[in-house]
Amino acid sequence: MNVHELSSAFESVHRRRPHISRAPGRVNLIGEHTDYNDGFVMPAALEFRTLAAAAPRHDRKIVARLASGGEAHQFDLDAPSAPSHSWADYVFGVALALERGGAKLRGIDLMIDGDVPLGSGLSSSAALEVSAGHAMLQAAGLPLDRVALAKTCQRAENEFVGMRCGIMDQYISCCGVAGHALLIDCRSLEARPVAVPRGAKIVVANSMVKHQHAGGEYNSRREACEEGVATLKATLGLIKALRDVTMADLDGARGALSDLVYRRCKHVIAENARVLAAEAALSTGDLPAAGRLMNESHVSMRDDYEISCPEIDKLVAVAQGVSGVYGSRMTGGGFGGCTVSLVDADKAEAAMAAIKAGYRAATGIEATVFACAPGAGVSDA
Ligand code: GLA
Repeated sequence: MNVHELSSAFESVHRRRPHISRAPGRVNLIGEHTDYNDGFVMPAALEFRTLAAAAPRHDRKIVARLASGGEAHQFDLDAPSAPSHSWADYVFGVALALERGGAKLRGIDLMIDGDVPLGSGLSSSAALEVSAGHAMLQAAGLPLDRVALAKTCQRAENEFVGMRCGIMDQYISCCGVAGHALLIDCRSLEARPVAVPRGAKIVVANSMVKHQHAGGEYNSRREACEEGVATLKATLGLIKALRDVTMADLDGARGALSDLVYRRCKHVIAENARVLAAEAALSTGDLPAAGRLMNESHVSMRDDYEISCPEIDKLVAVAQGVSGVYGSRMTGGGFGGCTVSLVDADKAEAAMAAIKAGYRAATGIEATVFACAPGAGVSDA
């Protein structure tokens, strides 16, 4: 639905005109599973977005429904209910986290719609959280602090939904800059825009597979990193996160770590270095170097962090063999979802067709493949 259609759909249910907030999904160019290790990431906001239409109520209830239909879900800000394991948890978790952070919200009717593909690693959940959070702040007449909203939405997902995600997805959905990726320092929460060179296109390919238990696998990766830090503290002293560890430190302590924890830590430490190297490569227009770093990132995710899957490995291998593709890797949390490729702009159309055809030939699956123009963070629609 476009903004106008959503507004009409809202009016036909609620007989009032809504305010509409929009928040984008994202693709991560490089820096995977580094955010919760206080490291670096380089995502870009997509044109795909979630829209949240809202109008104030006279009570303190959040009444949320999807424009596509289904039941309305209710949440009373004065008598918060437990998670219901539905999409509405992302909305109500944000309401609760905002109030716990000191915001005094008012009740709203909310209608949600969007075009971020669900469960495909493009952060449909962060787009939902951030659009709903923006709508709640707007209705309450409260100012928008973008980084604070990102942190609140992450807290909602950690504490209410039970997914121990890092800050990347919510941060880029709040703070995205049109035409740019952002290099985010997930420790200081500062970011700098990285222009996508004019000769390049960012191509996203959706493998159309999503493996079950991805949430549990995600949390177990995080635990392995925490175990690594706890062990490394014994030899390195005052470290807080894998951000503080070099590859030489890690190798020095190898004997104290299980092979599994060693490989998890190795991925994170090497990936942090790759993000910084990719920023340097993109800012000097060295596309082949940026592409090589993406390819290396994929090998590391596949072999050391073990978050890929056969279909994604196929999609990446197909893309890496296509003329005009500088590099390709899985993007997002893992176990399915999408790949991201850096492609010569002049060859992008042909490359996208070749990726689609190659993946179909190898797997029988029809991927959706598109080039993206990085968009801006959350705003009024
Ligand atoms: C998910 C999480 C992010 C990040 C990525 C992996 O998208 O929500 O915080 O950890 O996985 O890089």
